[in-house]
Amino acid sequence: MLRLRSVGRVAELAAQAEATQATGHTGIAHTRWATHGVPSERNAHPHISGGLAVVHNGIIENHEALREALKADGYVFTSDTDTEVVAHLVEKKLRNTPDLFVAVREALAELQGAYALAVMRESDPDHVVVAREGSPLLLGLADDGCYAASDASALLQVTRRMVYLENGDCAEIRRNGVRICRVDGTPVERAVIESQLSADAVELGIYDHYMQKEIFEQPDALANTLEMVGAAKSLQPGLFGAEAESVLGGARQVLILACGTSWHAGLVARYWLEAIAGIPCSVEIASEYRYRDSVPDPATLVVTISQSGETADTLAALQHAKSLGMARTLAICNVPESSLVRETALRFITRAGPEIGVASTKAFTTQLAALYLLTLVMAKLRGRLDAETEVRELKALRHVPAAVQRVLALEPEIKAWAQLFAAKQHALFLGRGRHYPIALEGALKLKEISYIHAEAYPAGELKHGPLALVDKEMPVIAVAPNDTLLEKLKSNLQEVKARGGELFVFADADSEISASEGVHVLRLPEHYGALSALLHVVPLQLFSYHVALVKGTDVDKPRNLAKSVTVE
Ligand code: G6P
Repeated sequence: MLRLRSVGRVAELAAQAEATQATGHTGIAHTRWATHGVPSERNAHPHISGGLAVVHNGIIENHEALREALKADGYVFTSDTDTEVVAHLVEKKLRNTPDLFVAVREALAELQGAYALAVMRESDPDHVVVAREGSPLLLGLADDGCYAASDASALLQVTRRMVYLENGDCAEIRRNGVRICRVDGTPVERAVIESQLSADAVELGIYDHYMQKEIFEQPDALANTLEMVGAAKSLQPGLFGAEAESVLGGARQVLILACGTSWHAGLVARYWLEAIAGIPCSVEIASEYRYRDSVPDPATLVVTISQSGETADTLAALQHAKSLGMARTLAICNVPESSLVRETALRFITRAGPEIGVASTKAFTTQLAALYLLTLVMAKLRGRLDAETEVRELKALRHVPAAVQRVLALEPEIKAWAQLFAAKQHALFLGRGRHYPIALEGALKLKEISYIHAEAYPAGELKHGPLALVDKEMPVIAVAPNDTLLEKLKSNLQEVKARGGELFVFADADSEISASEGVHVLRLPEHYGALSALLHVVPLQLFSYHVALVKGTDVDKPRNLAKSVTVE
């Protein structure tokens, strides 16, 4: 058995493997996102015990108690990770059975927490055991062998035939096939699914970065997501699932649960749902909601939003809502086979295609498209959408991909702004109304990939504190479409200018804000009404991307962050 570990990028490990001229046809590997113990070689996976090796995604919650018990049995720990207890525990079980599959299942019975595990041992290199509880895991069946991974896109290079394991499933992989059973040993069958993703979808192609590719894919991603309304003359609740009419129609309020960028999509939707569908809506960060004593109402429509459908906090928040008696549930998600989609009564799959860059872009705009459709369907069910408005709204939605394309054409101007901006240490983003969440998303993009400290505020709140920060070193970025709040926003911008702050304003064709000393203005080609939030985020994505390029950061894999956070 050969164990190679390194800190940093996978490419470094690949170079190490090449240098050692490692041979063999079975292996397990994991890119660790540190939860217990700093990122270091000694904490890197695989962890070993005797001749046995383990990789693990997730968190073993009772690792401290297990560690003490295993130490008492004489096991010596060489890392600070929770994972190492799994290696020793399985090794201990192997003392009573020669069968690795049995030993792993016995160990699983003692584990609390979340895991996707892969285990193998030196004495039987043609045998790998995997198990799943709370963290994603799927098998890929290829002509030349069997693979296991957390995400389908990792396997597309070798196969499109996938088997999605469910929580509580374990599998043993041998040369002659795969056997799946539950932790108690009961055999189960899981369907083989032909993935609809093509290997090209995860290739960079002509682009330098996935984030750049994904920003420019937005017109297509939106067109695919909105395809079902392409030729439609009316909006049907069935877009959200067979039971949609009764589930949505009977809802008295909406509760949106999500994390990160998906939470920002929920915040925009709140403005739409209340203003257009006339339904009360609250939006909560999933990790807060799951641990808070709230007041449940069974007539609530619970909407979970997630690109991956595997975010641990979002999944747990949904379970929490269900445990409080809220059964009207909808998932808006980009991955049809994800855990989230299997847990809700209704679903809408955004068809953005695989999103690889850690900073979410096309998933966000397609989530917004889905949420706007939800708003219109709810408005219709609630008698707030007349036939004429419905036709007009459908037309506006059909125009969205072309409108985004025109916004993308502003890239050269945005690039020039990025040059002016890259030396800054801090930035303040302002927006009002439904563009306040867009300011939040712009600030998040900038901090995620350029590491510039950025805060977003609803512009009216400026005078209640953040104005104290404004001086010539603190640039202010304003999302300023021509809506009913524009005049108010302009006053806020004057407050900034009067204090020497440099302004970068993303306006509309008709916003009537002009450039002057210290005021840079970029105009989006059209005025998009209620949908302008969807359009106004695009230049902010491009802006962050170009600032990060000037700064030379790792755009697609920003430090300390993970694409899909499957741990709490
Ligand atoms: C991580 C990603 C973010 C994403 C968030 C929620 O933090 O880096 O880009 O917005 O998770 O992910 P989800 O898959 O649930 O949308």
